[in-house]
Amino acid sequence: MCGIVGYTGAAPAEPILIEGLSRMEYRGYDSAGVAVQQGEAIEVVCRKGKVSELAHTLEHFDLDGTCGIGHTRWATHGKPSEANAHPHTSCAGDIAVVHNGIIENFAELREALIGRGHVFKSETDTEVVAHLVEEAYHRLREAGTGDLRAAVAEAASQLVGAYGLAVMAEGEPGTLIVCRKDSPIVVGRGEMGSYVASDIIAMIDATRDVVVLADDQMASLTAEGIAYFDMDGNPLEPEVTHVDWDIDVAEKGGYPDFMLKEIHEQPRVIRDTLAGRLSGGALTIDELDMTPAELNLIDRVYVIACGTSYHAGLIAKNLIEGWARIPCEVEVASEFRYRNPIITPTTLVVAVSQSGETADTLAAIRDARVRGAKVFGITNVVGSPVARESDGVIYTKANKEIAVASTKSFLGQVVSLTLLAMLLGQSTGRLTGGQIKLLFSELADTAEAVERILAECGPAVEEAARAMVDATSALFIGRGMGAATSYEGALKLKEISYLHAEAYAAGEMKHGPIALIDENFPVVAIATDSPVYDKVVSNLQESRARGACIIAVATEGDEDIAKHADHVIYIPKVRDAFSPITASVPLQLLSREVAVLRGCDVDQPRNLAKSVTVE
Ligand code: G6P
Repeated sequence: MCGIVGYTGAAPAEPILIEGLSRMEYRGYDSAGVAVQQGEAIEVVCRKGKVSELAHTLEHFDLDGTCGIGHTRWATHGKPSEANAHPHTSCAGDIAVVHNGIIENFAELREALIGRGHVFKSETDTEVVAHLVEEAYHRLREAGTGDLRAAVAEAASQLVGAYGLAVMAEGEPGTLIVCRKDSPIVVGRGEMGSYVASDIIAMIDATRDVVVLADDQMASLTAEGIAYFDMDGNPLEPEVTHVDWDIDVAEKGGYPDFMLKEIHEQPRVIRDTLAGRLSGGALTIDELDMTPAELNLIDRVYVIACGTSYHAGLIAKNLIEGWARIPCEVEVASEFRYRNPIITPTTLVVAVSQSGETADTLAAIRDARVRGAKVFGITNVVGSPVARESDGVIYTKANKEIAVASTKSFLGQVVSLTLLAMLLGQSTGRLTGGQIKLLFSELADTAEAVERILAECGPAVEEAARAMVDATSALFIGRGMGAATSYEGALKLKEISYLHAEAYAAGEMKHGPIALIDENFPVVAIATDSPVYDKVVSNLQESRARGACIIAVATEGDEDIAKHADHVIYIPKVRDAFSPITASVPLQLLSREVAVLRGCDVDQPRNLAKSVTVE
């Protein structure tokens, strides 16, 4: 996610902005920029790529102004480029804006602004804010009825969506106006002046006494102090929070480990991955660079990946075959690369990789392309080898994932693959416009369902974790979408808790694994509402009859399941096709809880690496 910093005070702003942006690099971004007030002018410098590249470019500028704003951007509207990087400016260049979040009504605002003579320089949603502030600022100033704060409030009142904003104007040197709605903004006073950021980590060296703005609050920062207002300009007395975390904890956003923090970021990942994908009732994934007619020629799909990403592929198979009726095979990249798969020019290979640099996946991509396949990459890392070497790429918008065990990246992959399956269904004509709209809206609703799971599942997960902590082995079972989900659940548990776990399609129980079952062998069952629910319940009963402790992930309202399970984790009802998105979350929480109870290092499990660049 994007990052905001701002400073006004006695010291040169540029190094403070660069330091703040560097601190937020872990969040992931594709471009960075600063705007510094030089005398009465605002100087803007942006670069695609790393903050270090921006810092290097700034060596050629002589910026010594003491007021400025900075930003790291992760593209949502408009590709990663220098023109789309923030800060964005008004027509006259006298207003500069940085923004986090998504402005949903930007297209209509942009059209209206263009109609009133504004000229746009970027494709971003953010730029409308610079022009809206420009209009309001000059009108209010000419009438003598308002200042930059009032102009920002007026502009914000026209925005629909989420925003954290920091704005400055040539006409009010040394002043920064900030405000927020559904996107974090933190301000604080340090010895050298006033600071703002979207993440405490960016200003923790300057101050540990901060004000976390609430929605619809604003602040005006000058070198002398900070004043707080509501959006109507009425003064506020906000509550100051003292941050006593060390840097390490600050990076974890107050969570005890990165894994838990990343699990909690998933509703945001779902929303960001879907942002801008449905327009005029049709699904678009421009980055794939293929026309509907070209897509329609695809007659075979391979999903290739490793580890957790492979499990995202197992989920996608059901969706691609179900919605597009195109045969789809899912294969671990280390196998695919050494066999002789059937590939023709109408084969689509989808390479899924969080890191974008897994050696086996890359080798499989190269092999597939040599054989004439079209390759789409799904990755979390902008500009990674998988992105560069694929014909088209979908970015998962999970932001940098630090815990070795993948959680939010997995969900980002599942959502991206779901979009791809819908797109194939759309281009083959098997899904109508109405169906696409309905599916998209239900897919978007999973963000709220995951939010509820995160808020409500804790006690049930803890109870289930206590029931399995002393086991030496566990079995995860499910059918259909639940089978695919159970594979990822078992992997998560073994990765971080070192408790042996395996997953089986529940119907296969009788063909072997049932021999293992006794009272020391917990069975985790995905028993959500689905066409195969009754079959899963039968398999539960078979396990229970042999003494297994049963932990069921079930749909809210299913009281019957309690008769067949020792512990039930209820989750909200969603369409069966989307159940892996919701059902995976309690399984992530469960494995983390077991790992914590067993005293394991949740973020850095032994023997594992975040990205595997060797064969
Ligand atoms: C490693 C990681 C896993 C990941 C796998 C594939 O094993 O520990 O979390 O799923 O690599 O990585 P990729 O970056 O290609 O998704």
